[in-house]
Amino acid sequence: MKIGIDQLSFATTPYYIDLVELAKARDVDPNKYLIGIGQEKQAVVPPTQDAVTLGAAAAQKLMTPELKERISTVLVATESGVDNSKATAIYIKHLLGLSMFTRVVELKEACYAATAGVMMAKGLVAADPQSVVLVIGTDIARYGLGTPGEVTQGAGAVAMTVAANPRLLELDQVSVAASDDIMDFWRPLYAENAMVDGKYSTQVYINFFLETFERYQQMTGRQLADFAALLFHLPFTKMGKKALDALLGDRDDLDSRRLREALTASQQYSRQVGNLYTGSLYLGLLSYLQNGHAKAGQRLGLFSYGSGAEGEFYSGVLQPGFEKQLNDVSADLGGRQQISISEYEQLFNSQLGLSAEDVTFDTSKDPSPFWLTGQKNHQRQYKANN
Ligand code: HMG
Repeated sequence: MKIGIDQLSFATTPYYIDLVELAKARDVDPNKYLIGIGQEKQAVVPPTQDAVTLGAAAAQKLMTPELKERISTVLVATESGVDNSKATAIYIKHLLGLSMFTRVVELKEACYAATAGVMMAKGLVAADPQSVVLVIGTDIARYGLGTPGEVTQGAGAVAMTVAANPRLLELDQVSVAASDDIMDFWRPLYAENAMVDGKYSTQVYINFFLETFERYQQMTGRQLADFAALLFHLPFTKMGKKALDALLGDRDDLDSRRLREALTASQQYSRQVGNLYTGSLYLGLLSYLQNGHAKAGQRLGLFSYGSGAEGEFYSGVLQPGFEKQLNDVSADLGGRQQISISEYEQLFNSQLGLSAEDVTFDTSKDPSPFWLTGQKNHQRQYKANN
């Protein structure tokens, strides 16, 4: 039985900053951000948005009455969870109006967890081929104002349905996962911003990619010629280039040129948004599908990485009509509003975060489909914008 990703959508926040302006404010050469890091714009999160509202907004784009009836399970991958006990998946399921008879759970392993969701969904669909599993990756990447990681912040969510006879990407049987106890990036329970050993994290990422890809090749016998594209988790777009360079070295042949060109297409959306953590690999997939030379029948390789650390290399084959199973990301990105660096700093410091206070947020300027309207008696308050 064919199992894979049936549909894919993306949502982000209504605001962004221009990283040339950020570079000027931080007294840095803008080319460091534009070329050295490979980012142009960064999503900015108002206090009315969090992992729940972003995840619900991405999934809402896929919803039809028929799909709502078929969803058996909602798996929400996030490292920006809003409660240590209650799953973000429960809030999202409620906002989407899904049936009471839906299994819901939250998954965590840094940026890797959405891929764990896809793999678990594959198993659930194999056990019940009539069912559809909704997998969401939703996050807010925060390192702190003026930190080296600041330029690699971002926010947004992807939503995917995994089903039998998928219309987008049929998953191949073989996938290679690897994990190791590594302190390259983490966020203790008392911290709102990530802690990171930045340069070390990039090296660990590359090692996980090379090791999982080598094992995948040994297990499948597939060569570079078998892939139309290799897609990467993109914490910043230069990271994908570093990983591909580590594989290709100075090769300049048909395969290496095709893979480098495909990488450029896959980086376009991330350059405009920043790190989505769990969703980044899948925003790269969307970007390749909408900006590259994607064609039905092509095999794509996907490398997922989450600090801490876990990586997985897997592959799939594009299905006829895949382009109809995606939302129009360019239109979404074009509809955002640019804000100044001081407005960004003010919003950065206005998040609910770890506060226990009752609060009501002003939602009047936020056009998003779902809002976090505040907190009352230690309970987050959510509302649909309709
Ligand atoms: P940094 O120290 O600010 O930057 O940290 P740098 O000095 O290393 O410069 C960055 C690049 O810009 C260098 O190029 C410079 O040469 C270049 P590279 O050697 O890397 O090719 N550069 C310039 N280029 C053009 N014109 C100029 C110029 N100046 C310098 N004028 C770092 C950079 C990425 C480490 C930092 O931003 C950081 O810590 N980010 C967060 C960590 C991260 O994203 N790690 C990625 C791997 S781990 C991962 O992917 C998991 C993650 O998503 C979390 C999760 O799993 O949940 C992060």
